[in-house]
Amino acid sequence: MITILAIETSCDETAAAVITDGYRIRSSIVASQIDLHAQYGGVFPEVASRAHAEAISAVVSQALAEANTSYADLDAIAVTQGPGLIGSLLVGINFAKGLALATGLPLLGINHLEGHIYSLWLAEDFAEPGFPLLALIVSGGHSELALMRDHGLYQRIGGTIDDAAGEAFDKVGRLLGLPFPGGPAIERAARDGDPRAFRFPIAKTDGEYDFSFSGLKTAVMRAVTVQPTARRSKRERGDERAAALRDDVNIADVASSFQEALTEALVRTTCRAAVDFDVRAILLAGGVSANSLLRRKLAAALDLPLWTPPLALCTDNAAMIGAAAHFRFREGFRSSLDFEARASWRLSEDVYAT
Ligand code: KG4
Ligand code: ZN
Repeated sequence: MITILAIETSCDETAAAVITDGYRIRSSIVASQIDLHAQYGGVFPEVASRAHAEAISAVVSQALAEANTSYADLDAIAVTQGPGLIGSLLVGINFAKGLALATGLPLLGINHLEGHIYSLWLAEDFAEPGFPLLALIVSGGHSELALMRDHGLYQRIGGTIDDAAGEAFDKVGRLLGLPFPGGPAIERAARDGDPRAFRFPIAKTDGEYDFSFSGLKTAVMRAVTVQPTARRSKRERGDERAAALRDDVNIADVASSFQEALTEALVRTTCRAAVDFDVRAILLAGGVSANSLLRRKLAAALDLPLWTPPLALCTDNAAMIGAAAHFRFREGFRSSLDFEARASWRLSEDVYAT
């Protein structure tokens, strides 16, 4: 039996979890900062790291208490090493290093994207479908398409060249005056809308499996805002917060048409890659994987199993970091106590060696 305490602070959730044998969640605590960031309409890095520092100790204690565990029962401590906001990552990393030093437990610095992939292993009915697998990780910070050839063996085949999918949801949500985060708000608003009311563009990219969402965001802005006047500055024209909505805008129609275009872009590229690489199944993970239209479309598009995490594990959490750490721990991977936080860090074949 392997029991791991995992800590995640890469963005705006302070999270800790205790995981036994890879997939059994003994506890998973997530202290969300959404209310703190709502006033800024996005994650404010300074505010995030301060909130992590205030919450981390209590969140870790609660995770241990709910799992009925003490440090003596643990085999390792895992923490998100990156990618993410440096100031936020450092709070979790330094806390985990302190714990490792004090307890003598081994420490594992885990890649956050690998964590999202392993959120699938925490789904109750998940049966490992064999390899290769195609993982689409779509969140506020990332939109990545990765081939998984085996446990821990990745090849990044594409991703966004500008905005992440969740970022596009959040920006368009803000433009439409919807609450933060934009993803769930747009999904709700879209229920009463017509997905064909607007024909928003699906961008073509040079990379065969890449995405681009900034043109889509601009197209939405053009469709719903008062047309730029000569008096508006260049900065204002590019700033969704400064734009004034037209009076006759049907928010539900815009939300629905935007969601339609964005999910269509994700589905088309993912399906093409799934066929080209002859994968056994598709893994959909990250905050945007909570989107039910995306799930429905992907499931219908291909004659392949589609695995999605339980809703609570789509957005950032520490359970997924513990699950990824479990497989790494079994392989013998350990981090040295002086490892550094990594703001950007792509999945690759030897992700922990590069
Ligand atoms: O994985 P996550 O918690 O954080 C990052 O690692 O970035 O993802 C958060 C993102 C936000 O952009 C949010 O708008 C989006 O996931 N999101 C959704 C939905 N729920 C969350 N996007 C679309 N539809 C949803 N239902
Ligand atoms: Zn994430």
